[in-house]
Amino acid sequence: MRLISKIIGQFVFLLVCFQKKLYFNEYSKFLTDMKTTEKIAVYPGTFDPITLGHVSVVRRGLLVFDKIIVAVAKDTHKSTFFSFDERFQILREVFQDEPRVEVRKFEGLLIDFVKEVGANAILRGLRTVSDFEYEFQMALTNRKLDNSIETVFIMAEDHVSYFSSSLVKEIARLEGDISHLVPPAVIKWFEKKGINFKKKVK
Ligand code: COA
Repeated sequence: MRLISKIIGQFVFLLVCFQKKLYFNEYSKFLTDMKTTEKIAVYPGTFDPITLGHVSVVRRGLLVFDKIIVAVAKDTHKSTFFSFDERFQILREVFQDEPRVEVRKFEGLLIDFVKEVGANAILRGLRTVSDFEYEFQMALTNRKLDNSIETVFIMAEDHVSYFSSSLVKEIARLEGDISHLVPPAVIKWFEKKGINFKKKVK
């Protein structure tokens, strides 16, 4: 269906070019523009805090999308350990060297934000079967709100498939080692909030 509308679009454009006596290089520019339409996904979450599991979803997502907007939600059903601003700052630090990743805050409906930033898709990670029911419900609700936005799922890599932000917070509160679960920036932010990982008696 998409292919047919593309062909029709090209044909109509070609006709307009002839009518207006435009040159062929205009037409080839049009074709290049069509090919270079950016594929942008929004990866939303609470990210309280971001884990290496989330990072892995973003990295794999970059194999499919040209750009990923990591969007930290203000309106979440969770009461968070890190404030909205802190979660945003942590994400910015984690992705500061990745030019194809943009970190944004959002509030209100996710689907409105996706449209506002001109993205074509919502990216979500799937870890285990237990994620499926919740993700399925969210994807279908978002589709009901806007049928033109697709949710794309990426399977978490097996070595991070048991990670969760709650698990990270629990270990951190008990001052256990979280270095294999989160990027270094997260450890720094836990320390800023008074958690001393080095205090632990061996
Ligand atoms: N690696 C590690 N952990 C992962 C993970 C991965 N690949 N994928 C998910 N998780 C974990 C998270 O750590 C988190 O764990 P926690 O429950 O222990 O905190 C949990 O799975 C899910 O968190 P997250 O991915 O951050 O998503 P979320 O469910 O908190 O986010 C929003 C939900 C923000 C996307 C959703 O509430 C939303 O869209 N809000 C805006 C309002 C709106 O539009 N509502 C209607 C939605 S249909």
